Amino acid sequence: MRPEELLRCAEEAMQRAYAPYSGYFVGAALEAANGEVYTGCNIENASFSPTCCAERTAIFKAVSEGVREFRALAVVGGKEGEITGLFPPCGVCRQVLLEFCGKDFPIYLGEGGGKYKAVTLADLIPYAFTAGECMQNEGE
Ligand code: THU
Repeated sequence: MRPEELLRCAEEAMQRAYAPYSGYFVGAALEAANGEVYTGCNIENASFSPTCCAERTAIFKAVSEGVREFRALAVVGGKEGEITGLFPPCGVCRQVLLEFCGKDFPIYLGEGGGKYKAVTLADLIPYAFTAGECMQNEGE
């Protein structure tokens, strides 16, 4: 799927954001290896910390449906659903993506006006803590 098409899916998902506290609407679209697109929006909570970001909503939807292989992610966000610049994934979402996506995994960050930046997961989370580090002392 072309980046522009995936970004369009993310923009649609952004409109479904539940963000009465911050007013920031975020949308994510995750293209799976099977061709399906899993979208997500941010879902806020009065108690704040249970808030789920758009990216995690999308990936948790996919994984809970048995899908764990992905091709690309598109993310857009902005105040009240207006894209006015980049809205890159937070640190927690970067770590969650790393669990299922490789270091070269492409991420398209919408900027508005049809523009976007293409980065990789490794660009967003260098020196990452992965399963390799987690398991290295296993069996000692
Ligand atoms: N948010 C996301 O949905 N994704 C991110 O990666 C960054 C932050 C949401 C959470 C909250 O609802 C709002 O943006 C403001 O932080």
